[in-house]
Amino acid sequence: MKKILEDLLEIAGDRVSASLAERYCYSCDASQIVGLPDFVVRPKNTSQVSQLIRLCSERQIPVTARGAGTGLAGGASPVLGGIVLDMSGMNRILEVDIENQQVIVEPGVVHEKLNLELLPYGFFFPPDPGSSAMCTIGGMLSYNSSGMRSVKYGTVRSYVLDLEVVLSDGRVINTGSKVLKSAAGYDLTRIFVGSEGTLGIITRAGLKIAPLPRTRKLVLACFEEAEIAGHAVIKVFSNGITPSACEILDRTTLQVLKLCDPDLALPDNGDVILFEVDGSVCSTEEMASQISEICRPMAKSLKVASGPEMAPIWAARRLVGAAISQLDPNKTRIYIGEDVGVPIKQIPALIRKVQQITTSLDIPAMKYGHIGDGNLHVALFINVEDKDQWDRLRIAADRIHRAALSLGGTVSSEHGIGLSRAEYMPEQLGIEALQVMRSIKKALDPKGILNPGKMGL
Ligand code: LAC
Ligand code: ZN
Repeated sequence: MKKILEDLLEIAGDRVSASLAERYCYSCDASQIVGLPDFVVRPKNTSQVSQLIRLCSERQIPVTARGAGTGLAGGASPVLGGIVLDMSGMNRILEVDIENQQVIVEPGVVHEKLNLELLPYGFFFPPDPGSSAMCTIGGMLSYNSSGMRSVKYGTVRSYVLDLEVVLSDGRVINTGSKVLKSAAGYDLTRIFVGSEGTLGIITRAGLKIAPLPRTRKLVLACFEEAEIAGHAVIKVFSNGITPSACEILDRTTLQVLKLCDPDLALPDNGDVILFEVDGSVCSTEEMASQISEICRPMAKSLKVASGPEMAPIWAARRLVGAAISQLDPNKTRIYIGEDVGVPIKQIPALIRKVQQITTSLDIPAMKYGHIGDGNLHVALFINVEDKDQWDRLRIAADRIHRAALSLGGTVSSEHGIGLSRAEYMPEQLGIEALQVMRSIKKALDPKGILNPGKMGL
């Protein structure tokens, strides 16, 4: 250990820590999955990352890269110890290239900061996770993150043109270039996107950006039941309308939001779909009235918001995950079964199954999320002192994951596999497809040092 510390200090100087307090701070992400690292290193450039990984390869030391630690599946928790690489210090926006509609960034850039930088140019980086104010681009790349606008704009994967990656033996490669399309061989870029730090360490990214829409409008459609809300979503898409966001807030979610702010312009009871449309003034007007007409026969109430009326509603939506304790201060939300996804035709069936599961196990739940992608966040909350509640929570989460799979869906639409969904990988992918993933892992990380123990690999 002493020798390793000396070598680390030689590579990264005062950016290395072996203090117990700091190691605890880096022992988990935002999930319940914990593992104590032996060292924390905050590299400042690619060369340092390359030297560090070479050292880890020679000594067979596990390395877990990490951004802001907002992940919800244990992807950044160093479950086998070793070194945590905190990439958040590599946070420069290196180039804003408007003519080529792209940016080059380091992995530690915070998502919201990138969009603030792009605002004066009239551009944005569309993937829009709830944790935008904290999460880093490196984390978003590693999880193929998405969020509220992916229903129209796609996930991170659609925006990556080039990655600089440090391989498991310390070599550095680029997976692409500034060119907008290329048919040259395997798509290495997309092998690394979503690989959760198991194949290489991303040290730089070239990302496509998009022009900001002229205007936005929001249709708030309130329904008697969540299942009916699900049918309305299918109807809107079947009519050829693609909203720029399509979020469900069930009645428990509305209750939580109203407890935070009684004046919030959301209905009091019912299950709400927020349909946002964006584009030109004329097209948003037209889409908003089409959505209202489609929903009218099914809805309890309909309202259209525009301009400054929309901001508090979206701010509340972003807050909702953290706000749940308003309902019962003795209960904590446990991120465990919270981002399943299904083909959108199966949304009403998923909602029905989730309701049956949580009611029969008597676990309070709040359902919200990116329903236009078929992605539902089921926020389960319990008193963490109570073992019986923990047991029931685990059963509920397992049943929710399996319900999504039985409907042809996925155990994770956006938060990733990490450790918390690893057990579902054989069923999710099929054993042969999982074997292909294991072969890729073996080819790129033969010593198994990169984020070991994750993704069911
Ligand atoms: C959200 C996070 C939980 O959508 O993905 O708020
Ligand atoms: Zn989400």
